[in-house]
Amino acid sequence: MGKGPYGKAVCGSFGLGEEHRPPHKSSLFFKAARAFSRFSKIEKMKNSGDEMAVILKADGVSRQFTIGDGSVVNALTDIDLEVDQNQLVCLRGRSGSGKTTLINILGALDKPSGGNVYFEGQDITQLSSSECDKLRRHKMAFVFQSVALISTMTAYENVEFALRLAGVPLSERSARAKECLTRVGLEKRMYHRPGELSGGEQQRVAIARAVCHRPKIVFADEPTAALDTPTGLAVLKLFRELVREEDLTIVMTTHDQTMMELADVVYSLEDGVISSAVHNDVAGGGADA
Ligand SMILES: Nc1ncnc2c1ncn2[C@@H]1O[C@H](COP(=O)(O)OP(=O)(O)OP(=O)(O)O)[C@@H](O)[C@H]1O
Ligand SMILES: [Mg+2]
Repeated sequence: MGKGPYGKAVCGSFGLGEEHRPPHKSSLFFKAARAFSRFSKIEKMKNSGDEMAVILKADGVSRQFTIGDGSVVNALTDIDLEVDQNQLVCLRGRSGSGKTTLINILGALDKPSGGNVYFEGQDITQLSSSECDKLRRHKMAFVFQSVALISTMTAYENVEFALRLAGVPLSERSARAKECLTRVGLEKRMYHRPGELSGGEQQRVAIARAVCHRPKIVFADEPTAALDTPTGLAVLKLFRELVREEDLTIVMTTHDQTMMELADVVYSLEDGVISSAVHNDVAGGGADA
């Protein structure tokens, strides 16, 4: 795995052979190596003009929750991952494995208990809540299993409203709302309210609403879970088109094996730990299959 777990990269760059044990994570050596590697990677993120620049990186992220009886749940432990620009990345794993917890931290909706998350080279775990709000409003977008459209508004009004919240001038809103709804195949359903649309159509409105303000990255938590397989696949193919044509990066969670085949990278989570990262070669045409 070229962009493998952080610890492995550190061991490799310091020339440790098979016969050597990797340094313990609490050792000074490990911390120095980690700091060096982190610095190099941040510089790569800042300076790289190439198309495959890292847009998002988790470095040693952990998340503990303390519940009512005082016991602690380790939802995530030492998560390292990287997302390149213009990739569709999938997080998979059983219920309770930590997918939603991770996507919330990557999307600046939650703070980790330990570790750091870098978005476009900036450590977003250090941002204030208003700075996080601003970052999410301008550069990020979210799609959830329950689409949460405003039921009294038409599809067009839902998207136009999102543009208004994002501060897009009135003169541009109408054209952009129509463009996005057309992009997701809803040109003939623009003036329907959510109750007059199918589940798949509602999810496509939610996607149009998410991408209308031209975010850099979309986080989607089980966006296809409420859909039947063909409709879910259509949503996934739409994601692939958006990655290719709208200069987007998408990080999504799913349980569905078919969906995973359309992702560039699939990270598997087990009990809050990344157990594997599989890179697929889908950019060249697999998405259209
Ligand atoms: N706010 C919270 N307080 C306490 N424990 C939590 C909280 N949120 C999540 N957890 C626990 O953290 C673990 C991971 O939860 P998470 O929601 O991330 O799983 P998931 O992989 O998204 O599961 P699913 O596929 O069911 O959505 C679970 O054991 C869960 O019980
Ligand atoms: Mg979840």
